[in-house]
Formats: sequence, structure tokens, C-alpha cells
Amino acid sequence: MDKLIIQGGNPLQGQIAISGAKNAALPILAATLLAKTPVVIANIPHLHDITTTIELLGQMGVSIVMRDNMCMQVDANTLTQCYAPYELVKTMRASILVLGPLLSRFGEAYVSLPGGCAIGTRPVDLHINGMRAMGADIEIENGYLKARCSGRLKGADLHLDTITVTGTENLIMAAVLADGKTVINNAAREPEIVDLANFLNQLGAKIAGAGTSIITIDGVSELTNNIEYPILSDRIEAGTYLTAATITGGKVTITNISPHLLESVVVKLRQTGAEITCEDDQITLDMTGKRPKAVDIVTAPFPGFPTDMQAQFMALNTIAKGQARIEETIFENRFMHIQELQRMGADIQHLGNTAIVTGVDHLSGACVMATDLRASASLVLAGLVAKEKTTIERIYHIDRGYERIEEKLLLLGADIKRVV
Ligand code: UD1
Repeated sequence: MDKLIIQGGNPLQGQIAISGAKNAALPILAATLLAKTPVVIANIPHLHDITTTIELLGQMGVSIVMRDNMCMQVDANTLTQCYAPYELVKTMRASILVLGPLLSRFGEAYVSLPGGCAIGTRPVDLHINGMRAMGADIEIENGYLKARCSGRLKGADLHLDTITVTGTENLIMAAVLADGKTVINNAAREPEIVDLANFLNQLGAKIAGAGTSIITIDGVSELTNNIEYPILSDRIEAGTYLTAATITGGKVTITNISPHLLESVVVKLRQTGAEITCEDDQITLDMTGKRPKAVDIVTAPFPGFPTDMQAQFMALNTIAKGQARIEETIFENRFMHIQELQRMGADIQHLGNTAIVTGVDHLSGACVMATDLRASASLVLAGLVAKEKTTIERIYHIDRGYERIEEKLLLLGADIKRVV
């Protein structure tokens, strides 16, 4: 199994380009199931989760033609089965995103229920309840969701008890071809939802309010526009590299990213002492020669501080001056990086959904284990600043969400290598 070996201590310097967002690419690839014409999608990141999605669509019979530079043409008209097997869903929970489009366009879906997950229970009840309210008949049978509707789904007035990102996306996709108007109240407001809505609207859908907590969808009978759509850039990848520059006392410019996607993260990085300059589609962070100051964070749905950046900020606080309080409000078990960071000398107290991090002078390199995607990123950041060598095992978690991480870090001057 691949490992990353990092010799810490190099301040990161230089410029890198941010890739397309995993969390925008996954729903948009699922949404291609709704289109009556082949669609072209560009700026797709080269990630394991994308490969899994291509495999998932491919085994449904969808035709996918790869073009240059992670651009692909997807044609769902060749679909032969509305089936998402456990073998794929268990490796990627976001596979549940095919439920809405399959039901909406083809009137049926047989999709494995995702099980529990490393960071929490992560139920999909809100996805199911929403589609039931739109007239779907959904049963759970042998670990699978067996969903059907006779004729088109019906528009409905929906209220989400909890703000859910993929739940909002699944319900938007279900509603796009429904008969009548659907209103999603208490919808998630993440930029990736706006990207999905923009994609669907270009195809011919009628979605208003994406990016606010009330989304209205006027159902249309088909989506027939010919489009080529570039995926939004990855704000979590961007935030991770900015945090890497901060923790190492470096100076880094990231390009191909709109700063407004990252406001809550930029505010917190500035509080650590980083000087940050934002331009149209790039951000420069200068932390040269400085030790970061500790910063408290509380995770929250967008536009709050993203849970997907919590682990990286935990790593940052381990070597900061002072003490920080980190509160995780989205997932109940998203602190598995604590034990690994403690093995590197971090001083962290874990109390329920809160961690108190007291900055130490230095971390020391160790053999550590990646446990989930963002926890793995926090270990990379810790390794970049630790004295001695850090070996990170099970890095397939990182490859799910970071495109060529060791190549990008090498470009920035890190001493990092992948060992197969
Ligand atoms: C998405 C992101 C993930 C991010 C998360 C929160 C993708 C592919 N993944 O995950 O990177 O960490 O948003 O920003 O976009 N919940 C329910 N019932 C449901 C659905 C969710 O109770 O039916 C709860 C979850 O257990 C969790 C909370 O709602 O506590 C938020 O989860 P949700 O927004 O759904 O996360 P994902 O969409 O799975």
C-alpha cells in the first residue's frame, strides 16, 4: 500500500493551481443522468472518487468518453440499469447522489444504502423522506433502497430538519424533472450546490435560489441543451494549501480559485498572523518567518467554517502560540486525527465534540495512519512542520480528495515522496 514520507521543516514557497472541486464534480456527474443529450464536463479533478463515479455510471450503461485534460463527455441515453451496487457505494457514500436523478428520469432506482462511516453515522433519511413526499415509493430491502414512481415525481413543499449538502443536491435533482414546483426550505447553501444548479440550469432546468436557504425548482419535462461545463474549483484543496503555507511559515500563491469561496477560512488564517492578498482568481498568503497564533474554530454549514477544514486547523494549532478551542458541530466523530497528532507530540484534550489544543514548540516525526480524507490532510500538514521524518500510511484516503498532493507540495519546496 502506498505511503507518504515527509521530512519536515521546509517553509513552502511558490505557486500552484487549484483543481476542480470533488464535491461539485460528484453531484454534477450524477446529474448527467438527467440529460437527454450528451454533455461535456471540464476541469474534472483526477481523484479516486471520480474514478469510482465513472465506474458507477459505466456499469449502469452510461457512455463516457475521456477527452484531454480531465474533460469528459457523458451520455446517459445508453443507460441499461438503474442500479448502484454495495461494492461501489461502500467505497464512496456520495454514490447515493444517483438516487434522485435515476428516480426522476427513469422512474426507478435500486441503490445500496451507504453504511456508517468513519466520521459519524451519516444517515440519508432526509433524502428518502423528501423523495417520498414527491410521490416516490421507497422501501429498504436487503440493504438496498428500492425506489419507484409511477409517472413523473410530483413537486412538493419540503423542509429539511437538518442542513444537508448531498441531501439538498439529491432533492434538487429529483425535482428538476418533476411535475410542478418544488420548494426546498432550510437548504444547504454551499457553493457546490450553486455549481450543480448552474449546470442543471444551463441544461434547461428551472432552479432559483441556489446559494440561499430556500431553493425553488419548477419541474421541466426534459433537459436537452448541448453544453460544455467547467467544474468549480476546490475551496477545501485551496484552504488546505493555504494552511500548509501558514503552518510552515512560508509564502504561497494559489491560482484558479475565487477568494469569495473561502471567506471564513481566510478570516481565521489572518487571525493566525498570515498576510493574505486576494485577487480575482488567486490568493497569496505570506507567513514568512512567523509562528502562527492559536485560533478557535466552530464548524458550521456554509458560509460558516467548513468541517472539511477542521482537521487541518487542528494541525495548525498544534504548533501555534497559545491555546485554541475547536468545536465540531456537523459530524459526531470527526476527531480521529487527534490520536495520530498526539503521537507526533501534540497537546490535545478531547472533550466530546470539542478539542482543546495547546501549541507546542515543535512536533516530532512519527509513523501515523490516515483514517479519513481530511484527517489525512492534517497529518500531511503536521509532517511538513515536524522535526524528523513522518511516514503516513493508508494514503488512499488522501487520493480520494487531493489531486497529486505530493507533486503539488514538491513544487512548493516540500521534502515529500510517495513510496509504493
Ligand atoms: C457533504 C460533503 C462533505 C462535507 C459535508 C458537510 C460531498 C460529497 N460531501 O457530505 O465533504 O463534510 O457535506 O459539509 O459533498 N444528515 C442527516 N440526515 C440526512 C443527511 C444528513 O441527519 O439525510 C446529517 C449528517 O449525519 C450530518 C449533517 O446532516 O450530521 C450534515 O451532513 P451532510 O451535509 O448531509 O453531509 P454530506 O452531504 O454527506
